[in-house]
Amino acid sequence: MFAAYFDCPGGPENLYMKEVMKPSPGQGEVLVKVSASALNRADLLQRRGKYPPPEGASDILGLEAAGSVAGLGPGCRGRWKMGDAVMALLSGGGKIQEGETVLIHAGASGVGMAAIQLVRLAKAIPIVTAGTQEKRKATANAGAAAGFNYKNEDFSEKVLEFTQGSGVDIILDCVGGSYWEKNLNCLSTDGRWIIYGLLSGGEVHGDLLARLLSKRASIHTSLLRSRDKEYKERLVRAFTEDALPYFSGGASPRLQPLVDSVYPLHKIAEAHRVMEENKNIGKIVIEMPVCFKKGPLL
Ligand SMILES: NC(=O)c1ccc[n+]([C@@H]2O[C@H](COP(=O)([O-])OP(=O)(O)OC[C@H]3O[C@@H](n4cnc5c(N)ncnc54)[C@H](OP(=O)(O)O)[C@@H]3O)[C@@H](O)[C@H]2O)c1
Repeated sequence: MFAAYFDCPGGPENLYMKEVMKPSPGQGEVLVKVSASALNRADLLQRRGKYPPPEGASDILGLEAAGSVAGLGPGCRGRWKMGDAVMALLSGGGKIQEGETVLIHAGASGVGMAAIQLVRLAKAIPIVTAGTQEKRKATANAGAAAGFNYKNEDFSEKVLEFTQGSGVDIILDCVGGSYWEKNLNCLSTDGRWIIYGLLSGGEVHGDLLARLLSKRASIHTSLLRSRDKEYKERLVRAFTEDALPYFSGGASPRLQPLVDSVYPLHKIAEAHRVMEENKNIGKIVIEMPVCFKKGPLL
């Protein structure tokens, strides 16, 4: 089978398509014939050698996959059959209540565009930050109630204006260090600040703890890749029950996968470059020739 590969950590130019051994599925796993994958910022970090796969996980680049079941490991018979269409994500603390306001940073990112729709599904109010007017427009189309360009305005002031001074209940933050002070300016009393990425780095200079305490606010952090199989299975089950019905059929509101662009696997370096330059709005999809992966399934 073919996979995106690099021999030494570095830039997108190190990537190439390589023929590798087909994996065999272990206990409770199925083998998936991958027809498409999608880029994730974690792939860029892994390529640079800054995010190694957790122990026991495949070292093949790519965390997301859609395809069909092509092999069954022990314990899978009865649950899955050959040819079943599947999608997979390989490898708390922020339960949203109806009516809450949620500030989503990098609103036009792959994660951000999905988060806007899921916040709407929870009957809460998504507002976003984004770096261009085009991205703000795209987030509004996806359901954002307001959007602020963090490059030419102070998003915390705008958020306070929008919430009439009370601040947001939740911040979904993949930016980290450079936003800490503005985040605390516009987080409500008892608000939850959920950190799931550190695009600007993790260093904080200032009185973070005092500011946090004065608002009785809490910080939650989340990483998916290093979670155990049981956690991922629970997550997949919850997503299957709570979100999947909204992608098809008559359920409303309708959830939509928002695709920025599609690249064939042999152009993987180009796709990484587009993401690294912050050009994508939504997901970058990678089309596979023939590929297999193991992991928890939807
Ligand atoms: N914790 C987890 O389990 C988990 C899982 C998946 C993804 N993630 C994280 O989620 C984040 C988004 O991933 P993605 O794949 O959706 O990303 P993406 O589509 O590549 O979008 C990222 C966007 O973030 C903005 N950005 C980049 N650097 C920034 C900076 N220094 N300050 C402010 N904004 C910046 C850019 O948009 P603008 O033009 O608007 O600036 C960029 O397009 C990444 O940090 C990723 O590592 C975490």
